[in-house]
Amino acid sequence: METKFQTEFRRKLLQWYRKYKRDLPWRKTRDPYSIWVSEIMLQQTQVATVIPFYKRFLNRFPDLRSLAKAEEEEVLAQWAGLGYYRRAKLLQRGAQEVLARHGGELPDNAEALEALPGIGPYTAGAIASIAFQKPSPLVDGNVIRVLSRVFRRQGHAKSPALQKEIWGYAKDLVDPAHPGDFNQALMELGATVCRVALPSCGRCPLQGLCAAKESGDPEAYPETPPTQKTLKLERAVAVALQGEAILLVKFRQSRWFQGMWGLPHEYVAETGASREIVAEFLENHLGIRFPKAQALPSTRHSITHHRIDSLAWIGQSQGKPRLLGPISEARFFTPEEIADAALPNFDRKVLEAAKII
Ligand code: ADE
Ligand code: SF4
Repeated sequence: METKFQTEFRRKLLQWYRKYKRDLPWRKTRDPYSIWVSEIMLQQTQVATVIPFYKRFLNRFPDLRSLAKAEEEEVLAQWAGLGYYRRAKLLQRGAQEVLARHGGELPDNAEALEALPGIGPYTAGAIASIAFQKPSPLVDGNVIRVLSRVFRRQGHAKSPALQKEIWGYAKDLVDPAHPGDFNQALMELGATVCRVALPSCGRCPLQGLCAAKESGDPEAYPETPPTQKTLKLERAVAVALQGEAILLVKFRQSRWFQGMWGLPHEYVAETGASREIVAEFLENHLGIRFPKAQALPSTRHSITHHRIDSLAWIGQSQGKPRLLGPISEARFFTPEEIADAALPNFDRKVLEAAKII
């Protein structure tokens, strides 16, 4: 039985969405693969940032097969700049599995989707509802905010107890007739009207149904989690040249950038960065000499709750790279190759400071 509350909630939300929804490229397609790509990109990245990457990625990998068959490096290169590169690797692995196990067709239900690499409950719900019109719920940060306000639930956004409650509400509310639009509407409302700070309750379609609005302090929901302290890191970085070419390496172990090319570097917690540290690193781990390096302006970049200062040195180097330890691959890239490489943003900043890109 549909309750009066459900009927009202769905009707008001969908009416609002049809009038105000943003014109986004992934809303023009019904292709499950394209919708999958968009939802993976949107997980940790804002809509405006995602749009050009989404277009470029689909241009290069127009269907599931082309992505499954591509070199991982090429996939990472197309992802470069979006961050959270694990998403790209898992997306490709997922495509490979769909090709091997499902004949190249994405499964049409949340349960089977969730069995694929890189697809969690959120993405499974998004693809099932948006691409296949299944009445599957989804919960992301926006949905948690909207529903914790509508139902005035206690708990902070990351708390498992609140998340469980919100999944329950989302499941009860999702409109069986228009699940994809309903879910997108809920996220859209959170992104545009029911904002973290200063929600626009006055133009919200749910204002008559919202307990937090009624209480007069919607901003209090969800509660703010105990803040995670920023971890400060410093790294010493080498821009080692041979002529115009720049040395890039792959580390065997890398927390964020496994399998990606990047500048040779070392994290320096105690000692601080210095020219000597950089020169020793190149000498010890690559057999490269770096005798007359000049300091570059320092750059700063944040990854999750880590704040990383890069202190870099640039100069001509001597010797052919040999792999003597933590590095699995090394070679010199021309500036043109660098422009196309999948380079982490904190290295891009260093090369920008060096006026190389
Ligand atoms: N955030 C992630 N996916 C979205 C979508 N399809 N619509 C609105 N917001 C989103
Ligand atoms: Fe959010 Fe205000 Fe709408 Fe409630 S009425 S859902 S608090 S914008």
